[in-house]
Amino acid sequence: MTDIRKAFVTGYPVKHSRSPLIHNHWLKLHGIEGSYEKVEIEPSHFSDLIKRIRNGEFIGGNVTIPHKEAAYLSADVLTDRARRLKAVNTLWMQDGKLWGDNTDIIGFTANLDQALGKDWHQDITHALVVGAGGASRAVVAGLLSYEGMQVTIINRTEEKARSLAEFNPDRISVAPWSDMARETERAGVVVNTTSLGMVGYPPLDIDFSRCGSQTIVTDIVYIPLITPMLKQAQALSLRTVDGLGMLLHQAVPGFSKWFGITPQVTPELREIILRDIGE
Ligand code: ATR
Repeated sequence: MTDIRKAFVTGYPVKHSRSPLIHNHWLKLHGIEGSYEKVEIEPSHFSDLIKRIRNGEFIGGNVTIPHKEAAYLSADVLTDRARRLKAVNTLWMQDGKLWGDNTDIIGFTANLDQALGKDWHQDITHALVVGAGGASRAVVAGLLSYEGMQVTIINRTEEKARSLAEFNPDRISVAPWSDMARETERAGVVVNTTSLGMVGYPPLDIDFSRCGSQTIVTDIVYIPLITPMLKQAQALSLRTVDGLGMLLHQAVPGFSKWFGITPQVTPELREIILRDIGE
């Protein structure tokens, strides 16, 4: 067991992860003698990394694609939200047990709460979520955490949206892609969780022209920071929130478990990441 607390981000591949920039900024800021490094692990060797945590080499770490389900299956104790999503992105040792959490939900909601103010959702009854992949599950769970919010999911593969809606059929409905304009018009908040708009992908083209001026449009894509969809919304003076904050906020609970301090998501931290992605 080493005195210096060591944490990691693992994935396959993991070389593009910005998480070390975030955690190393916080370590330096708080004068903590610790480390946070990338550990690339092939799926067939994921259990070796779990052994290294249990042996005390690491106090925990972040888990990204494709290991989130393996991490879920490896944890001794799961938080309610990890159990709900059947995916773990944050691991830590506590009292000899390996804990697993999913902080994507809180990353999504904390980003909106910080950007728009905690009451942003008060007059909103309908949300539209485009996409039904892994990230969408966290976004939908985040939106359902706001009392009274109804969620409509639209996904290219409608079947996947239907399966996600089983999570809470009373509050989630599914619409076909052809209903995008109508669903956008009645939604108070529109969220893109697909890969569309990301560098190298076609844009997600949504017609916002019939939306009310208070409509909120947010993307979980953050490269580029202002996606074509956000540009379309900004051109109509709608309220927009970029996706970088979700990445930053999802990192907070892990840092706090590993290093004992709850860090802040500041403009300075945003700048560090923006510089790295060339924005
Ligand atoms: P993540 O973990 O980021 O959510 P994912 O689980 O692979 O990644 O999900 C990707 C999402 O982007 C899915 O909703 C996918 O739609 P399908 O379920 O139909 O595959 C969506 N997506 C990716 N490329 C797309 C495209 N060209 N057009 C429409 N949707 C697309």
